[in-house]
This record gives sequence, structure tokens and C-alpha cells, in this order.
Amino acid sequence: MSRHAISYNARAVVTGAGNGIGRAFAMELHRRGGKVVCSDIDFESADQTASFIRSKGGSALAVKCDVAALGDVKQLADTAREWFGEPTSLLVNNAGVGIGGQCVEEISIDDWQWVMGINLWGVIHGCHVFVPELKAQGRGGVINVASAASFGAAPMMAAYNTTKSAVVSLTETLHSEVFSYGVHVSALCPTFVKTDVIKNARMAASSKGKLMGREKAQSLMDKLGHSPESVVVKSLNGLDKNKIHVLPQLDARIAWRFKRMSPSQFIRFSGLMASQLD
Ligand SMILES: NC(=O)c1ccc[n+]([C@@H]2O[C@H](COP(=O)([O-])OP(=O)(O)OC[C@H]3O[C@@H](n4cnc5c(N)ncnc54)[C@H](O)[C@@H]3O)[C@@H](O)[C@H]2O)c1
Repeated sequence: MSRHAISYNARAVVTGAGNGIGRAFAMELHRRGGKVVCSDIDFESADQTASFIRSKGGSALAVKCDVAALGDVKQLADTAREWFGEPTSLLVNNAGVGIGGQCVEEISIDDWQWVMGINLWGVIHGCHVFVPELKAQGRGGVINVASAASFGAAPMMAAYNTTKSAVVSLTETLHSEVFSYGVHVSALCPTFVKTDVIKNARMAASSKGKLMGREKAQSLMDKLGHSPESVVVKSLNGLDKNKIHVLPQLDARIAWRFKRMSPSQFIRFSGLMASQLD
């Protein structure tokens, strides 16, 4: 990949950089010569990521930011601009939370609002605040971390699936609006990645049984999950090629093609597969 690609020597802001995929993005962007603002709702974890990068001779700043709060995201952009001495050139909207274990009518409104606030509004806030400065520079990138859940229709995951599907739609629309400005926009759609997302998720016990409960989800992640580092490398390389959807794993690519070829069969198959897990 050319050293002039967007993921190299970036002035990057990563949300949710204190753990998992966000931490791997911060490290890889440092490896590619970038300066990284590591933000997270948990300042201590963001600071650990930033300190690690500095210990390797890199340039990183930790910032506390709750992506669900527009004011925090505006402050994040201002802090980043001041620290870089220039506007941000790459935004990774990564912060997100998991939720599952209940069917649609069982999910509480509080749970819907919680997950929409972080997984969807967090990405909307990031795009709203940072895209004007990317367009003005005539170059840059946005990675929105979605999920294969955006198209997988897995039962007992409606709230999570809905947020990720909306993130893909937002990404596609933004891509169509800004590609002519030299701004690359892509959605990362992984299946399982080995992180703490399930441990940190709200996983309720369903009245319909344990379908996709915490233990089952964790055991699938342990068996099938890829490393955050491998997924992040594919995401950044995909952004550099201006790919709109980055499907970093084979199972995600198979599911994507199946869904496009035969949506109704895919959705019913997805339900049947999940019912075998109980
Ligand atoms: N791990 C997977 O299997 C997987 C698969 C597909 C998509 N994803 C997505 O990847 C992204 C990263 O998740 P992960 O797997 O690394 O999980 P993780 O739980 O390991 O890390 C998430 C990070 O986000 C931070 N965070 C949570 N709420 C926040 C908020 N309101 N504001 C700012 N930061 C916040 C957490 O403190 C944590 O550091 C999420 O958007 C998730 O939905 C994960």
C-alpha cells in the first residue's frame, strides 16, 4: 500500500480506543506512521492505549469522550485539532456496545435507547462533527464500525442488528455524498472478533429460552472469532482502496452473498440456524 494512502501518516481520532477493536485501530494507525487521539468513555483505558503507543516512540493523546453525547464529540474534535495543529484526517467511529438474548417485544425501551444512543447516535455525532473538516481538506477518511449483524438478521439481537444496519445505511449515503471530495468512507462488517464486547454487553435471559444468550455467544466468539489486529488491517486497507463495505472474514462474505442472492431464504435459514443453538 502506498505511503500516501489515507491510513498512513494519518491524524487519526479513534473512539472506543480503550479496548478491543478500537485499541487495535489505534496501534495499527501508529504503526502506519500516524498520530492518534485515543478516546473512550473510560479515560483510564484510553490512557493505557495512548501510553503504550508513546512507549513505542509514537504520538498519542488520550481523551475522555462519551460518543452518545454530542457535546463530548464536539469537544473531541476541538481537542484533536489543537493537538494535531491541523484538522483530523481520519475518524474511526468504533465505540459500540452489545445487546442480545431477547426477542423484539421483550426488549425494554431503556435498552433500545441505550444501544441506539451509543451505536447509532455515536456514529451520527462523529459524522456530523468531523465530516465538514474532512470535506474542506479535500482528503481524508471515515471508518464506521458496523457488523455482519447489519445484514445477518440473527434472532434475539434486534436492537443490536437495527443499530448496525442503520450505520451501514448512513455509511453508504455518506460515501455517495463525499467521494467526489476525496474523502473515503467505509463500513467495517465483521462477524466474531475476540474482544470483551460480549462480557460488556447487556445480555438478558429470554422468556423463550437461552437462544443467543451470553454463554452461547461467548463460546461462538471463542471458537470462530478472529483477532482484532487482523480485522483492523483489512479495514484500513479497504479504506485506502475506497471500499464501501469491508467484510474481513470468509463467513461474513458468504452470508453477504447468500443474503443478496436470496433474501427470504437467507432470513429463514438464519432463524433456523439460531434455533439449533439452544
Ligand atoms: N467483537 C466483535 O465480535 C464485533 C463484531 C462486529 C462488530 N463489533 C463492533 O466493534 C466495535 C468495538 O467493539 P469491541 O468488540 O472492541 O468491544 P469492547 O467492549 O472490547 O470495546 C468497546 C470500547 O468502547 C468503549 N465504549 C463503550 N461505550 C462508549 C461510549 N458511550 N463512548 C465511548 N466509548 C465507549 C468501551 O469503553 C470499550 O473500550 C463496536 O462498535 C462493536 O459493535 C464487534
